[in-house]
Amino acid sequence: MQDQEQRQCPTQGYLEAFKHFATEAIHTGQEPEQWNSMAVVPPISLSTTFKQHGPGEHAGYEYSRSGNPTRNCLEKAVAALDGAKYCLAYASGLAATLNIAHLLKAGDQIICTSDVYGGTNRYFRRIAAEMGLKVIFVDCSDLKCLEAAITPETKLVWIETPTNPTLTVIDIQGCAEIVHKHQDLILAVDNTFMSAYFQRPLALGADICMYSATKYMNGHSDVVMGLVSVNCEKLYERLKFLQNALGAIPSPFDCYLCNRGLKTLALRMKQHFHNALAVAMFLERDPRVDKVLFPGLPSHAQYEITQRQCTGVPGMVTFYIKGSLEHAKTFLKSLKLFALAESLGGYESLAEHP
Ligand SMILES: Cc1ncc(COP(=O)(O)O)c(C=O)c1O
Repeated sequence: MQDQEQRQCPTQGYLEAFKHFATEAIHTGQEPEQWNSMAVVPPISLSTTFKQHGPGEHAGYEYSRSGNPTRNCLEKAVAALDGAKYCLAYASGLAATLNIAHLLKAGDQIICTSDVYGGTNRYFRRIAAEMGLKVIFVDCSDLKCLEAAITPETKLVWIETPTNPTLTVIDIQGCAEIVHKHQDLILAVDNTFMSAYFQRPLALGADICMYSATKYMNGHSDVVMGLVSVNCEKLYERLKFLQNALGAIPSPFDCYLCNRGLKTLALRMKQHFHNALAVAMFLERDPRVDKVLFPGLPSHAQYEITQRQCTGVPGMVTFYIKGSLEHAKTFLKSLKLFALAESLGGYESLAEHP
């Protein structure tokens, strides 16, 4: 009976939406009382430096790389949306990944899930590995494979769920249970595809929740940015030190834009789910389509995990056209409203051949 109801209404059956999400996105960290002007919309604070009352006596800020009022508003809002204590913003998603990798030292091992965003794969394989980190790629959607791969040198397990581009969903709680059998082993989740609205990795046991905020979190394809949320104070202090020491921080203007983007995150994600589900169901019925991968379809291999760990499904749909590469190229060149372009998570519709 329940199955039948779910089939009739495929947006049902997921975790309940996170309480007060839209209200937190609008109010947390945005209090007018923090500004002398009582500005309701947080101002863009462009100053690179802040006057000290006396040597070493500052009123919260000293230099904009170490802390900036506009960035602080954004970080507070994102922490609330992730159900986290702390958040840090970076110049890009990859800058956030780089900062997280700097938690490790030469000789330490990273286990990265095998299907992962190409830039993450490139950074781990071609940069981190050259700096002395050992990187192995393991299919973390198979928890036994993950468990078998962990060694005393493993210090970071990196998963992305759903993965880019095959939309494989990984059981975050299952990974966290395995990872936390080992002391000092960190589980980081790239939450870019789900956004804070659909998935809270920290509540499922992850230590780090990371985003390319370039995507859904900003949502308007006009900012490149990264975000990292954590609950552990020690981890936050180390990441904050690295953020300042490595310097890959976003501009105040970009922080302002991303903070503005968050105000409509709940509305946008609901609509993405609605639209993507319609597209996925349409494609699944089309005889010219070989296979559709969309975690919101009952045909998806991890449909149940998705319902268990997410409040919904975002707007990414992967599909295979019957025929050869030429057919795929013809399809992409013939699109009318969709632009053939990289990236995702904006208000516009894009298509890409990865
Ligand atoms: C899942 C995922 N993680 C990380 C990144 C990297 O983020 P950025 O482009 O903001 O550096 C991307 C970019 O496409 C991505 O799709």
